[in-house]
Amino acid sequence: MYSGAANIVLSHQYSTIFPGVSKLLILVLCLNIQSEVESCPGACVCYSEPKITISCQQQGLTVIPTEIPIQTQRIFLHNNKITLVRSTSFSSCRNMTILWIHSNNISLIESGAFYGLDKLEELDLSDNVNLKSINPTTFRGLIHLHALHLDRCGLLELSTGLFRGLFSLQHLYLQDNNLQNLLDDTFLDLANLTYLFLHGNKIKSLSENVFRGLINLDRLLLHQNRVSLVHRRSFHDLGKVMTLYLFNNNLTVLTGETMAPLVSLQYLRLNSNQWICDCQAQSLWNWFKQFKGSSSELECHLPTNLAGRDLKRLQSSDLEGCIDSFNQIRTSVFSTKTRSGKLPTTDSPLNSRDGTQKCCQPETDKSFIYEAKGKASPSSHSSRDAFDFYRVHFRHAMFMGSIC
Ligand SMILES: *[C@@H]1O[C@H](CO)[C@@H](O)[C@H](O)[C@H]1NC(C)=O
Ligand SMILES: *[C@@H]1O[C@H](CO)[C@@H](O)[C@H](O)[C@H]1NC(C)=O
Ligand SMILES: *[C@@H]1O[C@H](CO)[C@@H](O)[C@H](O)[C@H]1NC(C)=O
Ligand SMILES: *[C@@H]1O[C@H](CO)[C@@H](O)[C@H](O)[C@H]1NC(C)=O
Repeated sequence: MYSGAANIVLSHQYSTIFPGVSKLLILVLCLNIQSEVESCPGACVCYSEPKITISCQQQGLTVIPTEIPIQTQRIFLHNNKITLVRSTSFSSCRNMTILWIHSNNISLIESGAFYGLDKLEELDLSDNVNLKSINPTTFRGLIHLHALHLDRCGLLELSTGLFRGLFSLQHLYLQDNNLQNLLDDTFLDLANLTYLFLHGNKIKSLSENVFRGLINLDRLLLHQNRVSLVHRRSFHDLGKVMTLYLFNNNLTVLTGETMAPLVSLQYLRLNSNQWICDCQAQSLWNWFKQFKGSSSELECHLPTNLAGRDLKRLQSSDLEGCIDSFNQIRTSVFSTKTRSGKLPTTDSPLNSRDGTQKCCQPETDKSFIYEAKGKASPSSHSSRDAFDFYRVHFRHAMFMGSIC
């Protein structure tokens, strides 16, 4: 609790009893009072060293105390049952540097709640599972923010401009939410960001400029999502990334060109995906030949004769028949090695299930389809594997088509 009041009482007693020491006591009192907290809200403990702090964690609070002293530099409100952050909750606490309000039940942050808190360095809003969305201007002006914790907030999306102007941000925690889609330039201003945690979401694809501006990023965690498509330029600004986790996703293919900008990469995890180890894998396989860091296995999912093998340890003979120059029609494992590669004739995927015209499919995918069609023998076989293999390829082609 607050010791200033006690000092005043004491100093009165001492000054009458020992007038000689009163000056000293008053001096001590003055020094003390300068960094003292005026008043301390009921459920809280307040202290002034090392920083003026009010600590109200785990008090069963349902609302943020209204009488927070304006000098406060650190506010701890975690593990309560707070449901709302008002625009006025902290508006007078201009010297606040740390705010922990994680593990509550906040479902609304009124816009303006953090306006003017330009000394704020750390804001922890994590584990408020009913938050779900955040107004795009909420963090505006937090020019000294170093760490922003938004994990386990049930977030469905990151609105355009949410992180605008957070030039000092180093650590951004967005894991374990429900994010499905990340917009281009979401992180554009975050040139000082070193950690970006996005694992445990439902992200399906990574577009060309989703990570634009992250020139100092060191650690990018994207595991446990549903990523099936990475644009070949998605990583173009990530020359400082040392750790990249993409395990437990739905990747079937990733090109060497996509990986090329990651010149500092040391720790790579790509396991637990659906890797297709045919010609499409060759550029990644080549990229691995010069990669000096450590990597997980990349278990081949298809073709079946390579299932379970580690893509990066395949022999060039395993990728036999691939011609490694652009625009050449590539021979796919499907057609060269097909053991019984029958295509479903009635529902030929070339007649495109949804009827959309594939205006800009990459050559490789087109060539695969044409070739597969050409080689498909009308006779015999009903290999389920071949069918699945075809579907995976086709799905990939559709994704590529839809992104461009
Ligand atoms: C905020 O901090 C500054 C610099 O330390 C100080 O001069 C000012 O009095 C503080 N403001 C409040 C309201 O405590
Ligand atoms: C959290 O708040 C919601 C209303 O937003 C309420 O229905 C729910 O019971 C609260 N949960 C807890 C654990 O207090
Ligand atoms: C970002 O980092 C650079 C280099 O570390 C530093 O000079 C710059 O001041 C930082 N920007 C902000 C706004 O903190
Ligand atoms: C995506 O991957 C998960 C496991 O990594 C798997 O359970 C799921 O079936 C895959 N989904 C698709 C559409 O391939």
